[in-house]
Amino acid sequence: MPTRVVRVKLLFDARARIAALLWLVKPRVVGGDLGQATVRVVPCDLRRRVDERNATHDDEEWRMAPQSRVAPTMGGASHVIARDERYGEVTDDDVRHFVRCVGGDAAGVVVSTSATATNSKAADGAGDALDKYNVDWMGKYHGRSRVAVLPKTTKELSAIMSRCHARNLAVVPQGGNTGLVGGGVPAYDEVVVNLGRMNAIVSIDEDAGVSVVEAGVVLEELESAVRARGMTVPLDLGAKGKCQMGGCVSTNAGGLRLLRYGSLRGSVLGLEIVLANGEVLDLLRTLRKDNTGYDLKQLFIGAEGTLGIVTKIAILTPRAPTNVNVALFGLDSFASCVELLKLARGRLGEILSAFEFFDRESLDLVLEQLKGTRDPLAKPCPFYVVVETSGSVKSHDNAKLQAFLKIVKNKRVIVDGVVGKDEKHAFALWTLRERISVALKYAGAVYKYDISLPTARMYNLVTTLRARLAPQFGSGVKVLGYGHLGDGNLHLNISCAEYTDALERAIEPFVYEYTRDERGSVSAEHGLGIMKAEEIIYSKDAKAVELMGAMKRALDPRGILNPYKVLPAATRVAALIPMSRL
Ligand code: FAD
Ligand code: MLT
Ligand code: ZN
Repeated sequence: MPTRVVRVKLLFDARARIAALLWLVKPRVVGGDLGQATVRVVPCDLRRRVDERNATHDDEEWRMAPQSRVAPTMGGASHVIARDERYGEVTDDDVRHFVRCVGGDAAGVVVSTSATATNSKAADGAGDALDKYNVDWMGKYHGRSRVAVLPKTTKELSAIMSRCHARNLAVVPQGGNTGLVGGGVPAYDEVVVNLGRMNAIVSIDEDAGVSVVEAGVVLEELESAVRARGMTVPLDLGAKGKCQMGGCVSTNAGGLRLLRYGSLRGSVLGLEIVLANGEVLDLLRTLRKDNTGYDLKQLFIGAEGTLGIVTKIAILTPRAPTNVNVALFGLDSFASCVELLKLARGRLGEILSAFEFFDRESLDLVLEQLKGTRDPLAKPCPFYVVVETSGSVKSHDNAKLQAFLKIVKNKRVIVDGVVGKDEKHAFALWTLRERISVALKYAGAVYKYDISLPTARMYNLVTTLRARLAPQFGSGVKVLGYGHLGDGNLHLNISCAEYTDALERAIEPFVYEYTRDERGSVSAEHGLGIMKAEEIIYSKDAKAVELMGAMKRALDPRGILNPYKVLPAATRVAALIPMSRL
């Protein structure tokens, strides 16, 4: 079949420029904006009232609804865990203390308004003020915290953590709540510390190409701010309109630009952290080179809020490419996708900036669920690849892309292809890949696995799982494969009407064992959260997990930071210093 290559037209970062539009015109499936929609029950002239300690009036204002004893739900039987009774329970007095910590600011403390506070909607259907903090983006993990605190400064957060430490109150740090492994919502009744109000861009240094931001800055807002100065953020992901820089650092998010800029670990130059006991650890430097001892900031990158709370970040913001092209190809086998990657690396070289793949099943779901999307090619193909090039010399970049197109066509590596003819078209092509996770959310329940595997064999897991599930579950259960092929990262998703133990048992531990046997990683970029805390052993040996436990013990001896997450229960318990010795 002849390749339908549309005229190459230069694009000035189509995705970045149209991203804002996306959030305006598409339904906002990632929930309300945390900054604007804070539901609160605090009085306006709070400062005066909270200073009147022990006043009866205050006691009434700050009394939380009685706590429900319903167990939390976590999207499947294997994830139901019991509350660790060593942690204290938040009292009205704690809440009053938190209010003082935030200087009496009415928007800084949110308490539950119903007894369900909650793993589900209240009986009257009205919901609870804490629901948006208790439930994750997928609607899969439901905690039941009764208080969320939203500090505005490091000092306020430090005071909050001192109180939690002294009272042995468990805490869950929360950013934009877009995480996909249940790490950013409480497992039980942890105090939610949401960073959404620490959202200042502290500095943007064009000469050095470095920006310093508070943790609550939303990724897309930072991108817009640095774009205005000709720079870019070396990170881009589908949740950019809501995820926060602190959340991204804490998950070491990968995303769509990793192929170009490498892991976030290399782009973060410095961090400010509030430790479990409230102490502030100042690692906030903007130096490119700094070999003075251990690189402690790396401990906090990807720690998912279990070792400290990130409050400020210094991050490289390199010059933005001025010339961006996007092409989408249809291919008839996964082997051809891999062959295309090899050719792209060889022929496009330094201008190759993204290489993403998805299968036909993923595209079908997008077309079915997302309004305004359409089949990009004349005929369906089993596989699709999005290739993006970014450079700064139009003639050079275009010549390279044209040569690449000619080769892949002549070698018949692709079946069909299309190049974005303008920004709108390029954006439409990117949407088909970038919003698969949104389509999955609309479609119902989804089991998500985020796996690193040897690139050439990556898709075998999808076909193997399909063969495994089909006889028992039929066509009601769909197995989809997509991901960051250029990074060896498969997103294996099982879409179904509802979460069932039978289906989960058919998938797990099979997927983890398969990954272990391939010496892959059970968490390529999303983290372990609560979903895979026990599963770390499939990708890390016992000694490594033991050392992680030692680090946890050193930094958070009471284990109050994000309990139940990242490390297996046995390691977490061993890491706790007995109360009698504290
Ligand atoms: P949250 O979800 O709030 O928290 C995530 C974890 O970090 C939790 O463990 C939380 O406790 C901890 N945390 C949050 N803030 C802090 C802080 N300041 N200090 C310490 N700990 C903190 N991920 C990718 O890697 N690549 C992708 O391409 C990608 N695409 C996505 C697309 C969509 C549509 C969605 C919904 C999610 C996607 N994700 C992706 C997952 C998610 O967006 C990222 O993990 C993101 O980094 C989470 O940021 P957040 O601010 O929402 O963090
Ligand atoms: C993606 O690459 O689309 C994200 O990591 C989200 C997902 O895995 O669904
Ligand atoms: Zn991803």
